[in-house]
Amino acid sequence: MKLNIRFPIRYKILLILLVVVTAVVSTITFTMANLFHSDKRSYIHDLTSLIAVHSAKEADSLLEGYHERLQVFARLMYNESLLQDQKTELLKGLFKDFDEFVAVTLYDPKSGVVAVYDVNQLIPIGLDRERFDAYREKYPLPLEKIRAGEIYIENSTLSEKLPSLTLAIPYKGPAGRTPGVVTGTIRLDRLLSLAGRSKVFETFLLDGQGTILAHTDVKKVIERLPVDWLPDIESLSNQQSAGTTKEYEHNGTGFVGGFSEVKFGSLLVGVQIAKKAAFLSTKALINDLLWVAFGLLLVSSMFGLLWAYRLTRPIQRLSHAAKLVSKGNFDVQIDATSRDEIGSLATSFNHMTSELKSREKALIEANEKLVQSEKLSAFGQLSAGIAHEVKNPLTGILGYAQLSLRKLDNGTPLHKNISVIEKEAKRCKAIIENLMKFARQEQVEFQDTDLIDVAGDALAIVDHQLSINRIKVIKHFDPELPLISGNANQIQQVLINLMINAQQAMEGTPGTIALRIRNCNDKWVEVWLKDNGPGIDKDIQDKLFEPFFTTKKSGKGTGLGLSVSYGIIKEHNGKILIHSTPGKGTTFVIVLPISRSKQASSERETTEGQLAISKQPSSATR
Ligand SMILES: Nc1ncnc2c1ncn2[C@@H]1O[C@H](COP(=O)(O)OP(=O)(O)OP(=O)(O)O)[C@@H](O)[C@H]1O
Ligand SMILES: [Mg+2]
Repeated sequence: MKLNIRFPIRYKILLILLVVVTAVVSTITFTMANLFHSDKRSYIHDLTSLIAVHSAKEADSLLEGYHERLQVFARLMYNESLLQDQKTELLKGLFKDFDEFVAVTLYDPKSGVVAVYDVNQLIPIGLDRERFDAYREKYPLPLEKIRAGEIYIENSTLSEKLPSLTLAIPYKGPAGRTPGVVTGTIRLDRLLSLAGRSKVFETFLLDGQGTILAHTDVKKVIERLPVDWLPDIESLSNQQSAGTTKEYEHNGTGFVGGFSEVKFGSLLVGVQIAKKAAFLSTKALINDLLWVAFGLLLVSSMFGLLWAYRLTRPIQRLSHAAKLVSKGNFDVQIDATSRDEIGSLATSFNHMTSELKSREKALIEANEKLVQSEKLSAFGQLSAGIAHEVKNPLTGILGYAQLSLRKLDNGTPLHKNISVIEKEAKRCKAIIENLMKFARQEQVEFQDTDLIDVAGDALAIVDHQLSINRIKVIKHFDPELPLISGNANQIQQVLINLMINAQQAMEGTPGTIALRIRNCNDKWVEVWLKDNGPGIDKDIQDKLFEPFFTTKKSGKGTGLGLSVSYGIIKEHNGKILIHSTPGKGTTFVIVLPISRSKQASSERETTEGQLAISKQPSSATR
């Protein structure tokens, strides 16, 4: 089964960031810890080696000193020219001067074993000659080897109060005598203080038998423990190069040890440190690094979360806005402040919504126009049918009324009645004719037309009506005006409709009508008809071109003037527009196309304020 888990982008970004940070931090931590560890390791090796070499040298010179002093003892004990008392006194003096010596024994083949003891030191700690003899019996000296030239040193501690070593050397004695062996029992004080110098490093001195001779921990000297755990002890003591280092384990603890041979007596000095203690700082460093890494991860995840949130917030907004747009809300706009790809996406989105909005508006307008034009077309067809049916009977009524009037005396009641019939029939005929024009039943011919002539004809027709209503006409015609392609009678009818409307809107108050005709460009001519009447309310401006829309009282207007005018201008491939401010007046603007056959302006003699009257006045007044 496939799990449908949604994983938001912000968490993906956070995850990537965390993976990268973890990888970088762990690499750095690992590398640093490794470097530090290997550096520390070589430092510990160097240090143990150095201490071992140094301690070996010190032990060497110390033992050399003991060797010389032992020879002094031997010379005195062999001296046969001295009396016994004198010897005893001198030996006492030697024990006093060489205070580390507690006993000296001479193994001479001629005179046997001669031993002297420093009783001043032995008696207070409960030791006597018997103890020494018993010990030596238990651990006999390798006298033959020593006689052959070997120096022998061993841990010969008898009491914990007297950690001591025995130094045995060959001694020739007087000439002609078989060589003997002289041994000295020497307190370990100085060697122990040498081993106990460092509390961190464990220092020990091993005798030829691999037994501890001196150690940081005195107990181990007293116990005379053999060092069997040290690897290759033989090879270590035979090292030519002083200061060898080794890593080994003892009782489950890892050690780093440095070793150096003490030349005198073939002893071995060892300096060791537990790895745990040696690399304590490495462990502490790794701990610190881990904490720092953890802190870095924490900070970076917080920062990453914040960053991812900031980065994806505009995307979320975009997605929300896109949902709104899909529901038809094109007013949505997004803050496009960032200068990155998301910012430009937001800008494009905003551009898209405003484009959609304006297209929707244009679509609605086009739809409204379509509805309007369909309405007009339907109405036109209906009107055409009615007009066609009504026109013939109406012509009959008018004809018979006029015939009757001719046969009746003027002033009789019947004459008056039939006059009313004639007048109303004429009105009906005019309405029918308008309807038919609206329905475009008439076939009109287009020809090159001079708009200034047409305007002059229209003005001549309405001139009287305007002047009795105290309306002044101000004209401004471009002298170089091109001809238009159109029907003069129809255009004239439009101009008359507009001027009569203006006059009627002023309702008897004096006013002005400005009529301006100008050449816009090489394609269009514009006619401006501006009045200073009451203006038109915004609410009804959209309805003015609808058939039968009128604000006039019943019987005063049919509401067909503007709809017929609209139809005519449309037929001429032009436009008719209204600009009106209530209380200030109304301006109608008609735009008509220039004739393609004759672009040149017509020659005319008209001057400002002078009218050219047409021979055939328009019959399209209402
Ligand atoms: N110049 C104008 N100033 C104010 N209102 C106007 C003006 N021209 C037209 N109108 C308004 O437009 C309406 C429609 O005009 P239209 O010419 O179509 O019909 P009418 O004048 O009412 O009737 P008809 O023209 O058939 O006698 C008018 O009733 C009037 O309210
Ligand atoms: Mg009118």
